[in-house]
Amino acid sequence: MKTIVYLLSFSLLIASCNSKDDYIEDVYVNIHIDLSLPEYSDLQVSGSSIFIEGGVEGIIIYHGVGNDYKVYDRNCSYEPSLACSYIDSVDAGIAYCNCCSSAFLLSNNASVLNSPALLPLKMYNWSLNGSQMRIYNH
Ligand code: FES
Repeated sequence: MKTIVYLLSFSLLIASCNSKDDYIEDVYVNIHIDLSLPEYSDLQVSGSSIFIEGGVEGIIIYHGVGNDYKVYDRNCSYEPSLACSYIDSVDAGIAYCNCCSSAFLLSNNASVLNSPALLPLKMYNWSLNGSQMRIYNH
């Protein structure tokens, strides 16, 4: 009996880890920010990034070259529903998950640099009008 319980809980664990449906949730995003405000000053240099509120677990704005930006959700793509599944640090343009060892290259559409993640981070659209940035997905 014990063995069956073990086997059952083990297979449940496997199923929850590998569920293909367990990707980053879709939530409505429509954010307007003024990049000239002091709170966004850390984003002025190419290669820098900041966290802002919004999305599923928060949003990362990455400043590429010139007027190019990349905007992602902080929710990790590996097991997004876990409470610890969010990007907690960015170092040299590489975003690290708080849960395990996944890492994502922000300059390259948040492609996976380190497993266990296989999928990139969720990306949001953005537009820039002067210093007014809009982040959206609809
Ligand atoms: S949930 Fe991000 S690597 Fe585990």
